[in-house]
Amino acid sequence: MRLATAGPNDRSAGTPPPVTIRRPEREDGAAVWQLVADSATLDTNSIYCNLLQCTHFSATCALAEHEGEIVGWVSGYIPPEEPDTYFVWQVCTAERVRGQGLARRLIISVLTRSACDGVTRLKSTITEKNAPSWALFNALAASLDSTLARAPHFERDSHFAGRHETEHMVSIGPFRRTILPVRRVA
Ligand SMILES: CC(C)(COP(=O)(O)OP(=O)(O)OC[C@H]1O[C@@H](n2cnc3c(N)ncnc32)[C@H](O)[C@@H]1OP(=O)(O)O)[C@@H](O)C(=O)NCCC(=O)NCCS
Repeated sequence: MRLATAGPNDRSAGTPPPVTIRRPEREDGAAVWQLVADSATLDTNSIYCNLLQCTHFSATCALAEHEGEIVGWVSGYIPPEEPDTYFVWQVCTAERVRGQGLARRLIISVLTRSACDGVTRLKSTITEKNAPSWALFNALAASLDSTLARAPHFERDSHFAGRHETEHMVSIGPFRRTILPVRRVA
């Protein structure tokens, strides 16, 4: 069985929202920063950081565009010491398009790219109270026919000096790459 999900640069047809999912470019950095800021949940980084994501890390980042406006974003990378793992740094969708499968499609679209050919595990960190994020990663585990494990990773007092809630490491996999949609664009 394969997941029915559009590829990284495919135009989706039919079901709303009609969006294009693609690799980011340097021109997208400021709009990505704004989308993250508007999420009201995520920490913003510097625009410079978003520009690096949109350039050096564009092969493992994706954005969703609707009529020229960025409505979804996932940043991530393959940790140097874990070549079988895609680590999701941040994922967010604009409030008006939430609950329509867009965040899941963004992550799956990155997993189908050639940059992720060796990837069979998905990781991220989530704070305890971020219910939509837990729902997203549980749904991803189910989509990938895999299980989700969790453990405290960056802790409030020992790592964040009390300034941020504990981030729990979420690990999904190993999953079979044959379950992913067939890649149409590298
Ligand atoms: C978390 C977030 C990215 C989810 O985006 P989304 O586009 O709504 O997610 P999807 O539509 O792909 O949902 C995937 C699954 O999660 C579930 N889900 C998403 N939001 C949910 C919510 N608020 N409550 C319950 N379930 C939810 C969906 O029902 C779906 O599961 P299903 O396929 O079994 O029905 C979005 O809420 C967001 O941008 N939040 C602010 C930023 C953030 O907290 N990011 C995560 C930390 S990096």
